[in-house]
Amino acid sequence: MSHAYDRPVTAAGALRLHLNENTAGCSPKVLEALRALERNDIALYPDYDAVYRETAQYLGVPQSSLLLTNGLDEGIFLTAVLGQKRRPADGDAESIVILPAFDMYAISVEAVGGRVVFVSPRADFTFPLDGTLAAITPRTRVVYITSPNNPTGVRVSNDDIRTVARALPPGALVLVDEAYHDFCGDTVVHELGSLPNVVVGRTFAKAQGLAALRAGAIVAVPETLEPFRPLIPPYSLNVAAAAALRAALADHEYHTWYVGQVRDSRERYYAFCRRHGFQYWESGANFVLARVGDHATALTDALQGKGIYIRDKSADPGCRGCIRVTTGTVEATEAAVAAMEEYLCGAP
Ligand SMILES: Cc1ncc(COP(=O)(O)O)c(C=O)c1O
Repeated sequence: MSHAYDRPVTAAGALRLHLNENTAGCSPKVLEALRALERNDIALYPDYDAVYRETAQYLGVPQSSLLLTNGLDEGIFLTAVLGQKRRPADGDAESIVILPAFDMYAISVEAVGGRVVFVSPRADFTFPLDGTLAAITPRTRVVYITSPNNPTGVRVSNDDIRTVARALPPGALVLVDEAYHDFCGDTVVHELGSLPNVVVGRTFAKAQGLAALRAGAIVAVPETLEPFRPLIPPYSLNVAAAAALRAALADHEYHTWYVGQVRDSRERYYAFCRRHGFQYWESGANFVLARVGDHATALTDALQGKGIYIRDKSADPGCRGCIRVTTGTVEATEAAVAAMEEYLCGAP
């Protein structure tokens, strides 16, 4: 299977609503923290004491349950590496990816020589528990569950996550990718004590707007996290990302404001879909998937002509005729909706 990883665009002045980025920019406090870095901060290998202490506190876990990573992509890659290290003596390690899915799971598993087992989506994109349980074998090493899912925005219940975790063979893990946690509040972090084979992934790219600096985390009970530690280079999180992360996590006001913008944007986007009779999926994330039918590709192209980038998801499993649009600031969402209305008024 080939993968088209969603690449950024470089057009100047573009409104990028195709990568689920933060459309407001990071908190101004982050820039202050970066400006406050001194020459020695740059010259010396980073000291992680403060960023570990404050991030663990923010997440409500002990420091021994936290591993900071160079973006969540690195955490995903580490799970693939560990899965491959634990491959069965008599064949391939299998990792389960539930479609439609974020591309990096399959890319990472295949990069390290593992085998990906895909689970087909349900028509309504609710979590296919039966299909996932049926895909588990004694060779399963990692199950990737994304909640809310990308690209659907659909949330997975903690009950379903628990059921999958309990059905796994010894040594296998569930990675619960909570990249979009901030926009709905769902999490299994507080249940990890009773789920020793579950690892939670978080990113600070989205609500905190640190995508370019690369800051993510994986969280698990200490015994589960221990085998990950030798797999990651010692200074994977750079000093600028560490300083930015501390400032971002401390700025609750910015976080509350941005999450409010996203919630408001989602409602405005749902209303747009209803006006045009487009099916959409209620999203727990900072984007919405909608089925616009035959318009999907032409609409995406037309918006691109106006410098507004959205994602045509028509080729994803179960997503025929679908587009995914980032719902960030209300201003950005209104601009996208206005451009779509204009296209649809003139569309045949
Ligand atoms: C589900 C999911 N996980 C992980 C990531 C990557 O996060 P990061 O930018 O921290 O590597 C993304 C980015 O879009 C994502 O959608």
